[in-house]
Amino acid sequence: MSRSRSTAVSFLRARLLHDRPVYVHWAVTSRCNLRCRSCTIWERDSADEICGDDVAALADVLAEIGCLQVSLGGGEPALRDDLVEIVSTLLERGIRTRVLTNGVAMVPALARELLDAGLREFSFSLDSLDPKIQEEMDNTPGAYSKRLRNLAALAEMLPERGCLPMLNTVVTPHNFRELPTIVELAGELGFHASLIPIHLPPCADDEHRFYGQAPELRFDEESGAELREIYNEIIALKRRGGPIINSSTFLERSPDYLLEGHAEWPCRAGELFFSISPQGRVAPCHAFEDRWEVDFRDLPDTLGSADYSRELEAKIAECEGCFRPCWAEISLLMLEVRALGEMVRVQASTKLRRRKIDTRSLQRRLEASR
Ligand SMILES: C[S@@+](CC[C@H](N)C(=O)[O-])C[C@H]1O[C@@H](n2cnc3c(N)ncnc32)[C@H](O)[C@@H]1O
Ligand code: SF4
Ligand code: SF4
Repeated sequence: MSRSRSTAVSFLRARLLHDRPVYVHWAVTSRCNLRCRSCTIWERDSADEICGDDVAALADVLAEIGCLQVSLGGGEPALRDDLVEIVSTLLERGIRTRVLTNGVAMVPALARELLDAGLREFSFSLDSLDPKIQEEMDNTPGAYSKRLRNLAALAEMLPERGCLPMLNTVVTPHNFRELPTIVELAGELGFHASLIPIHLPPCADDEHRFYGQAPELRFDEESGAELREIYNEIIALKRRGGPIINSSTFLERSPDYLLEGHAEWPCRAGELFFSISPQGRVAPCHAFEDRWEVDFRDLPDTLGSADYSRELEAKIAECEGCFRPCWAEISLLMLEVRALGEMVRVQASTKLRRRKIDTRSLQRRLEASR
């Protein structure tokens, strides 16, 4: 059976039986070349990472428990010298693999090696087309032009069929008016836009915080009506077939999350998805990192145990919630027919249709920023 066919069969099986994790986010490093205001991962800056035989052993465990898709994030995955090897190890085991990158170190030579290893799924972060806004978010001078150059090169290198590249945009008060333009750019490059409502920790002394302490990135009530208008525009664009990967349900609930700090969705952390740290520790999601983790080697036994299921249920019931798309969209995909239909259409179009790739407007922006 071809890889894509067997993934589709495994996915349908998982949807019916809910007997396997569908998705894993593996932060392969906490090192980073940016200092984003929205994020605190870079503060950890540790080189304590599993590598070599442990990477192969982790990939074996993920294959054994039936995991269908892994996203490699961080920190910045492009800083790992063995990123190509990690990707090959996962792909060889039939696990769909995506690399998330801020783009600054995703130079054409590395992108070429990843493509040659069989990688077809890239998520490239870009929050703004205004150099001032982007550099303010990056909190690191000089990153804007490097990432735009690498984005243009990547768009031109990706095959016209069979890829699902994404532009990841964190939605904040500084960039929300740009969302339709960012979606348009994603379309020109043959990418899909993925709009991520900014998550900010509730209080400064939250010792497990993962995201940045940046009160200026919180929406106030005054911008509420305009934010909802922009999201209505995005939802209408999606209905007309615009290149937006988020499900309609996710988009409809995003303004509530941004304005009120809460959005309803059926969380299935630790059951349908997991988070893995650079050291190979497995938690139900990012919120449990450093608090409730198991070594990856113990995952197959842990998953099947009654104690685990009981404790998981209690812990999730206590959670204050999040609206991180990788988690929420997986649950929606597995539980909501509309979200599943939308994803099937996107996947089918990437196989059947040639992506049009036009980097001219991106090149113009790059020229203008020099
Ligand atoms: C943590 S980064 C890791 C991968 C890579 N370093 C990058 O920036 O793409 C993964 C994604 O999280 C997003 N992100 C950062 N801070 C966030 C926040 N406070 N809320 C939601 N998403 C955030 C980033 O923009 C990026 O798209
Ligand atoms: S969002 Fe990504 S690029 Fe920015 S500091 Fe966090 S890990 Fe680094
Ligand atoms: S809602 Fe809570 S348990 Fe579920 S993924 Fe978000 S932080 Fe984790």
